[in-house]
Amino acid sequence: MPVVGYGTMLFPEPDRAVELIVHAIESGYRHIDTARKYGSEQWVGEGIRSSGVARDELWVTTKVTEENAQADDFARSLDTSLTTLGLDYVDLLLIHWPQPQVPLAETLGALAKAKRDGLARNIGVSNFTVALVDEAVAVCPEPLFTNQIEYHAYLRQDKVLAACARHGLTVTCYAPLARGRVLDDPVIGEIAAIHGRTSAQVALRWLVQQPGVAVVPRALEFGEIEEDLDLFDFQLSESEMDRIGGLRDKNIRVVDPELRRPRWDVG
Ligand SMILES: NC(=O)c1ccc[n+]([C@@H]2O[C@H](COP(=O)([O-])OP(=O)(O)OC[C@H]3O[C@@H](n4cnc5c(N)ncnc54)[C@H](OP(=O)(O)O)[C@@H]3O)[C@@H](O)[C@H]2O)c1
Repeated sequence: MPVVGYGTMLFPEPDRAVELIVHAIESGYRHIDTARKYGSEQWVGEGIRSSGVARDELWVTTKVTEENAQADDFARSLDTSLTTLGLDYVDLLLIHWPQPQVPLAETLGALAKAKRDGLARNIGVSNFTVALVDEAVAVCPEPLFTNQIEYHAYLRQDKVLAACARHGLTVTCYAPLARGRVLDDPVIGEIAAIHGRTSAQVALRWLVQQPGVAVVPRALEFGEIEEDLDLFDFQLSESEMDRIGGLRDKNIRVVDPELRRPRWDVG
């Protein structure tokens, strides 16, 4: 999976969405993150077709919502996603949020079937806590590839990261810029000035410099889209990594929906 993906949640101007996705692909993004819930699958499909980049050079992730956790609903939701995207398969299919009303084994069975049927090349989960990751790995008939979670410089996620590493799952960070909150941080700003980079680049570099960690930022400006991918010709020192890591004690979670959130691990 390419380490930087383009996030496609909450496009305020639908007419511009396809243009932004095409621009991301033309700028070099080869990983696009969408979901049934975002309403962006159609634009992602149109963007891919307009870009002219071959399907097999792209990594497309989509997700099935917690309302579709029962096996039949899950399969129908994936069918709708593929039709809306105009694709035969996705590279990664995720359970978007845990659903305590449906046995996890049932949803994971449907997820694994999608992989066996060739509709998803890889499978994974999102917003899973340590306990849920442990259970999912124990129960899922096929290997899980990633847990997509909120992780950024203002949120400590050591416990979930350790659980994912223990089970061989990568971590994909959503809201990697804490929806913009980390961008005015003076420590990040100071380190950005040293490297001649922007705060966004340093905040993203801090994440992708950690083992097994990928990011899916979302930007609506062409320049920012390019900037967020341009992370691979500088490196943060160990002490810079630690200084930014210390900011996690702020413990700010920007995505915490009351009706969906599991009992988050703290620390
Ligand atoms: N699995 C889940 O439950 C879940 C939940 C939330 C999000 N996600 C995924 O994660 C993706 C990203 O998360 P997010 O959109 O919530 O938050 P985010 O990527 O942390 O932050 C987006 C904000 O950062 C700004 N930004 C991005 N690049 C910038 C740059 N280079 N310079 C200055 N500002 C910059 C954007 O500004 P503008 O937009 O104004 O350009 C936007 O306000 C989503 O699109 C979605 O794909 C998944």
